[in-house]
Amino acid sequence: MDLKSVDYLAPVFAQYPIEVTSAQGVWLTTRDGRRILDLYGGHAVAALGYGHAAWTAALSSQAQACHFQSNAVPMQVRSRAAARLVAFSKLPFTSVFFVNSGAEANENALKLAFRITKRQKIVAIEGSFHGRTAAAGAITWGAASKWYGYPRTPFDVSFIARRDTGAIAAQVTSATAAVIVEPVQGVGGAYDMGAPFLRALRARCDEVGALLIFDEVQCGMGRTGEPFAATLYDVQPDMITTAKALGNGFPCAALLMTPRVAAAVKLDALGTTFGGGPMACAVIEAVIEAIESEQLLARVRHTSALIRNRCLVGPVIAHQGAGLLLGLRTVRPAKEIHAALLERDILTGTSADPTILRLLPPYILRDRHVELLRRALLDIGS
Ligand SMILES: Cc1ncc(COP(=O)(O)O)c(C=O)c1O
Repeated sequence: MDLKSVDYLAPVFAQYPIEVTSAQGVWLTTRDGRRILDLYGGHAVAALGYGHAAWTAALSSQAQACHFQSNAVPMQVRSRAAARLVAFSKLPFTSVFFVNSGAEANENALKLAFRITKRQKIVAIEGSFHGRTAAAGAITWGAASKWYGYPRTPFDVSFIARRDTGAIAAQVTSATAAVIVEPVQGVGGAYDMGAPFLRALRARCDEVGALLIFDEVQCGMGRTGEPFAATLYDVQPDMITTAKALGNGFPCAALLMTPRVAAAVKLDALGTTFGGGPMACAVIEAVIEAIESEQLLARVRHTSALIRNRCLVGPVIAHQGAGLLLGLRTVRPAKEIHAALLERDILTGTSADPTILRLLPPYILRDRHVELLRRALLDIGS
């Protein structure tokens, strides 16, 4: 099959001029034989890189043992994955609801916030991205003018400017069901909200009885060098949603809940067919096991610092973000630098900020790979 088969796919994605046929570690191999260093990880997904032996073994042995049963049928692998995820978080969560995608995790978090508070308003943050479904799109910055596609949003939403601590009190009121925030924005440009802003949100939510939801779909599961960004900033949300690195590419997502939230979850309150499927749960266990046994959180912190030190060269004039959700600010449009790097066999990402080149590499990245990036940036020049 050649690339002509792409013609049958809905033309909704701008596509890079490469076709990947296999991958190993942090390297992609293309149909025309190029080896490309992957610093983007399929939108922050491939945390363990490619061909990870334990991840592949977990998937294949669960496929052989029993590839699927619904949530109506108890399975140890599902209970183990939930327990493992709670323990990994190091936060006082007591309940996990497994779903399929980041947007779905956010939908369910919002649903619970409305149910618990009996209020109708959500506060989100400018620059946010929370997904493409009706509710997740409604709290995504700029969706209405770009792609939302529904006649109206299903509830009231207002947006606070990023890090604008002074704006919180007026917007988060006794009418607010929840505030939802990415502690480090991904699509918004690897923009970290910082501890003061997140703490102020927490304090105001407590004051007015609103819930605080951290969308850690992109920045969670070790990407910041901590289990979750909530730990990095030492702010405890009522719910965390996570996905992407959670399955290292097997589609899955999770909603973690504190006891107060969990108490509102009654029989039939939430539901899903595929969420919490045994194969997803087997890989979630494998991902957490790998992050812990290979000490990948320490590696993320080390590599992040190295990139910040070594890669302020060529077109890069500043850095932002946290861990391996890094934004390199470029003197020229990031799109141009992205293309120039791809010509030099390095895949990176862009973002909603036109001068931010986004890096979301696998956690297994080594120092020598950072040197390849540095050399390519020097070669591109300013
Ligand atoms: C922070 C954040 N939340 C939610 C989503 C939506 O996740 P999904 O595409 O799995 O629905 C994304 C996807 O990029 C994201 O970055």
